[in-house]
Amino acid sequence: MAFSERFLEELTERSDIVDVVSEYVHLTKKSGANLFGLCPFHSEKTPSFSVCPSRQMYHCFGCGKGGGVINFIMEVENLRFPDAVAFLARRAGMELPEEEAADGYTVLRRRLFELEREAALWFHEQLKTPDGETARQYMARRGISASTARRFGLGYAPDSWNSLGDAMKARGFTEQELLDGGLAKRGRNGGVYDAFRGRLMFPVIDVRGSVIGFSGRILGDGEPKYLNSPETMVFSKSRNLFALNLAKKSKSGYIILSEGNIDVVSLHQAGFDSAVASLGTSLTPEQARLLSHYTQEIVIAYDADAAGQKAAQRAIGILEKLDLRVRVLNLSGAKDPDEMIREKGPEAFRKLLEASEGQVDYRLGVIRGKYDLSAQDGKVAYLQEAAALLARLPSDVEREVFALRVAEEAGVSREAVLADVKRLRSRLLSQARRGAEKTAARPAQNVQPKERGLRYDDPRSARAEEGVIRLLYQEPELFRKREPISPEQFSSPVLRRLYAELLQRVQNGMKPSMAVLAETFSPEEVSLLTGILQKPETPGNAGKALEDYIGIIGNAGSGSSDDELLALAEKYRKTKGYGG
Ligand code: UTP
Ligand code: MN
Repeated sequence: MAFSERFLEELTERSDIVDVVSEYVHLTKKSGANLFGLCPFHSEKTPSFSVCPSRQMYHCFGCGKGGGVINFIMEVENLRFPDAVAFLARRAGMELPEEEAADGYTVLRRRLFELEREAALWFHEQLKTPDGETARQYMARRGISASTARRFGLGYAPDSWNSLGDAMKARGFTEQELLDGGLAKRGRNGGVYDAFRGRLMFPVIDVRGSVIGFSGRILGDGEPKYLNSPETMVFSKSRNLFALNLAKKSKSGYIILSEGNIDVVSLHQAGFDSAVASLGTSLTPEQARLLSHYTQEIVIAYDADAAGQKAAQRAIGILEKLDLRVRVLNLSGAKDPDEMIREKGPEAFRKLLEASEGQVDYRLGVIRGKYDLSAQDGKVAYLQEAAALLARLPSDVEREVFALRVAEEAGVSREAVLADVKRLRSRLLSQARRGAEKTAARPAQNVQPKERGLRYDDPRSARAEEGVIRLLYQEPELFRKREPISPEQFSSPVLRRLYAELLQRVQNGMKPSMAVLAETFSPEEVSLLTGILQKPETPGNAGKALEDYIGIIGNAGSGSSDDELLALAEKYRKTKGYGG
């Protein structure tokens, strides 16, 4: 399928990595040429994700992921190479060359997007048919207006085995596409039938506005209450949220996270246009990350039952890791947001929103609820657990404020609470320090790639091979006229392939770009390369450095020790500052 070199070259030129990454990560300039931000690929509180504008690459010092702009899009949008290219092309306003767009996988995905959209339109149309009367009645019972139904594109799947299938086939879709799109199922006798029957249909629409799947509620009682699209080439439950396509446009400044589709519909109808739901899974880290692209504050409005409260605790943990502010609604009395709005009206919900607790209040409340504060041992246990919570708060002011509250509740002095908090906190801090020292000591020994499959058989030679690759980026001229060392001499297969590929580009007069590697190398292999390029190397005398490295590669396995190589690296490092 291969895109032409020229096309990719132009695409990456028009897709500056700083611009593209900035759409997902807040980047700030620290020192030197690199920009830093919080890594979108793992949870962290201090930025270790770097972007290097001159090399057009990113690298995370925490999780080790790295690559060029195409790798970034593949990773963050969960796309394969051709789709990431198409994604960037659209962003850059470039046309995809015709034959290049015709990759089988891409074509199938595009067909499925069309199918899901056609199916959504068709389900929506069915609401207006005589057959749709049951659905209309159900919506009326649930208080869903016609305009809300339009806004969400709600629909009706008739109680029939093949009406959707027939309608889609008449529009040119195949049985296989219906199966691939999760809209049909194959029965034991080989026949194919509609997956959704007799249900109120909620289309799931991604943040780009494409219908990707459905959630169908039974009209009344029965099991299962909801049926969701299976995982397909275009739908993944754990990576999407119901109604985020609408909520992302809200001006409210926060996103309301609820459990049920009905809650979301009901909230939007009552004017709370930033409500989303997590599609029947408990909130996943991917969903949290997605939310963090659109807001800095989440209001959790889960069901009031025990399951809902447990899910809220879990969600808080996940959201906090992304540095999102989290508030939790206490639905006092009602079982879920839908019931609250229907019984007490939107104003009551708005009041609740305004009065909603910060997460510390909420957590203290949960702890308080576990103990009987009128009994002596209950009080002691409450104080211990509350102090452990307060000890983790980063702000002095917050610790003081909440210490007072805890003290008042337990009937002890604030000083007593604060003393406990202080003791626990210093223990926590020294634990954290020890942890940090351990991590800092690690890189020196950590010569092996993170990925097990890429481990070096001959680490000494491999390190010199890494050095050659670094020099190829820094001083391509050294490699242009002649080939100072042939890839065959490399001991590590992955380094050999990387070197061969990059060398070929350089010898054809191009830059050793990162972007084009995304097609032929795995994300782990590209990450290994960005890691290698991050290690300091100074071409004080690049020619001499290259010779020395080649000497070591040639001598692999014999004589000189690891220390020798370290000394060598040290020597070049001293010649000048770190290379950029
Ligand atoms: P709920 O049972 O709370 O549903 O499940 P709801 O949307 O609030 O509907 P009502 O008000 O009872 O009619 C919460 C969410 O969990 C998922 C759905 O996404 C639902 O919206 N779920 C629930 C399923 O995926 N399957 C089920 O069988 C039930
Ligand atoms: Mn519910």
